[in-house]
Amino acid sequence: MNAPLSPQALTGSALAEPVLAVRGLTRAFPGREVLRGVDFSLPPGQATALIGANGSGKSTLLRCLVRLVEPTSGQVRLLGRDMTALPPRALRQLRAEVGIVWQRHNLVPRISALSNVIHGVQARMSGPRAWVQSLAPAGVRDEAMTCLDRVGLADRALLRVDSLSGGQQQRVAIARMLMQRPRLILADEPDASLDPQTGEEVMSLLRTLVRDDGLSLLVISHRLEHTLRYSDRILGLANGRIALDTMTSRADATGLRQFFDEANAA
Ligand SMILES: Nc1ncnc2c1ncn2[C@@H]1O[C@H](COP(=O)(O)OP(=O)(O)OP(=O)(O)O)[C@@H](O)[C@H]1O
Ligand SMILES: [Mg+2]
Repeated sequence: MNAPLSPQALTGSALAEPVLAVRGLTRAFPGREVLRGVDFSLPPGQATALIGANGSGKSTLLRCLVRLVEPTSGQVRLLGRDMTALPPRALRQLRAEVGIVWQRHNLVPRISALSNVIHGVQARMSGPRAWVQSLAPAGVRDEAMTCLDRVGLADRALLRVDSLSGGQQQRVAIARMLMQRPRLILADEPDASLDPQTGEEVMSLLRTLVRDDGLSLLVISHRLEHTLRYSDRILGLANGRIALDTMTSRADATGLRQFFDEANAA
C-alpha cells in the first residue's frame, strides 16, 4: 500500500509557483486584434490542451509566450521570470528552458537522427563541437542516445532522418527538444500532419514525458479525442480570450464537441 501523502506533498503543487502566468495579454495585427486580454496560469506537472477555432489565435498565443511574436501588451511570467521585460541575451537563455514542438519539425533531412538530436544541445552549449556528431563530446552523444531511447528510436539513431516515417521524424524532433532539458513544453498541433494512429502515439509520448519528468505541457490540438485522452486540463480560446477552463476529468463532452465543431467549421 502506498504511504499516505504528507501535508506538504498534498499542498505542494497548489503552493508551487506557476510555470507560466499570463496576465492581460493582447496582440494586434494591422486591422485585427487577435488576443484581447488572455489570462491563465499553468502549475508544474500538468498537461494542458489549448483548443479553439481556426484563426482564433492559438498559435499567436503560443508564440507570444516565448516572444517569437511580440505581445502588444500584457505580462508573461515564465519559469519565475518576467518574460516581457527581458533583454535579448536573458531572453535567449530563458527560451532554452522551453521545448517547442511544431507541426512541421524542421529536422535536417540528410543527416542521421542522432546528429539531429545532438543539434538540440546548442540551446545549452555553444561552439561548433555541439554541432557535429563525430566531434560531439561523449557525454552529449550518450545523452542524445538516451533521448532517442525515450522516444523509442534508439535502434534508428544512425539512419538518415529522411528515411524515417513522418511519425518517427516527429519523435526525433521531440528527442531533439528533450536535449534542451526543458521544464515547459509548448506544442503546436504536433499530431496534425500525421495519420490518426501515429498522431495518437505522439500525443501519448508527450503525456508520458510530462508524467515521468514532472514537466508542464501546453499543447494545441484540433482532435477532440486526443484532447480528452492526453490532457489534465482544457483551455478554450474564443474572441481573443480564454472562454473555457476546465479539468479534463470534469469536461462536458457535449460542450467541448460544440467548441470543436465551431473550430472545424471556422
Ligand atoms: N504575422 C501575421 N500578420 C498578420 N496577421 C496574422 C499574423 N499571424 C497571424 N495572423 C492572424 O491572426 C489570426 C490568428 O492566427 P493564428 O495562426 O494564431 O490562429 P490559430 O488559432 O493558430 O489557427 P489554426 O487553428 O488555423 O492554426 C488569424 O486571423 C491570422 O490571419
Ligand atoms: Mg495555429
